[in-house]
Amino acid sequence: MQAIDIEHLSKTYAGGQKAVRDLSFTFGEGEVFGFLGPNGAGKTTTVKLLTGMLTPTSGRCRILGIDPAAQPEQVHALCGVVTEHAQMYDTLTGLENLQFFASLYGTGPEQSLARAREVLQLLRLEDAADQKLATYSSGMRQRLSLARCLMHRPRILFLDEPTAALDPESVQNVNQLIQNLAQSEGITIFLCTHQLRYAQEICTRYGLMSHGRLLALGTLNELRARLFSHSTLRIRASHIQEAPQALKPDADGCFTMPIACEEKVPEVVRQLVQSGAHIYEVEIIRPTLEDIYFSLTKER
Ligand SMILES: Nc1ncnc2c1ncn2[C@@H]1O[C@H](COP(=O)(O)OP(=O)(O)O)[C@@H](O)[C@H]1O
Ligand SMILES: [Mg+2]
Repeated sequence: MQAIDIEHLSKTYAGGQKAVRDLSFTFGEGEVFGFLGPNGAGKTTTVKLLTGMLTPTSGRCRILGIDPAAQPEQVHALCGVVTEHAQMYDTLTGLENLQFFASLYGTGPEQSLARAREVLQLLRLEDAADQKLATYSSGMRQRLSLARCLMHRPRILFLDEPTAALDPESVQNVNQLIQNLAQSEGITIFLCTHQLRYAQEICTRYGLMSHGRLLALGTLNELRARLFSHSTLRIRASHIQEAPQALKPDADGCFTMPIACEEKVPEVVRQLVQSGAHIYEVEIIRPTLEDIYFSLTKER
């Protein structure tokens, strides 16, 4: 069974805004799926359709085989959702917040206390457990909001721009924790973000969105192979006498050339060394998710 299964899913809002257009894709459990695109691409609308907060205009979706439009409670029991600004209570401590929200799911106080301690540790908040939320930094708040969503042991976590409001250090922190959740807890993650650079560090598979449509789907290497035939070999060296013709000086005093595969690297290095060059650094620069995204939008 697929974790997420979407077939020809579309959503047009009451005002006529076509937010999601004929979306189809599936992926399995255990993935960290990066659902990427700029503001307005249709990411949040898709999450709302997948979690039963909106009903599709046409098409269908299934979460672990369940239709969220028909059985929202069952889907809510299996999923957690984290948004950019989670609303919790400033006057309660971290621990009290978790226990309060667990009680809404019908979990008893003893059971929720044990689970709250567990998730606080998982998100490295155990030292702040008894501090009021008002004293938390924005990074800590976001970690607590992740903790809150883990209380009922969801199998799928929807994270909608979880790091958009955070400083770079907190982003790294939260991203590391997201990755740990996927690896150690086996939770499937559906991560929506416009921060392509950060997504590249943690996702196993990507869907790239623009104007409600899916532009491409695949792993980073699949997307690279589909859109780019070459990477760039960059070499910092001096005393170059004889070099491959394609090797050209760049603006930073290094030399670059396009290469189709990494097997080319030893050949180039050998030739340079044999001709007396001093090599200080050799690097392959591969297309990033940003390169891939811009290439796709330009293609259109
Ligand atoms: N409740 C709504 N009513 C009408 N239009 C909406 C509503 N919510 C979002 N939209 C529009 O739908 C499009 C997709 O929005 P959204 O799904 O929020 O994108 P993203 O999360 O990728 O930024 C945008 O053009 C947005 O303005
Ligand atoms: Mg959004």
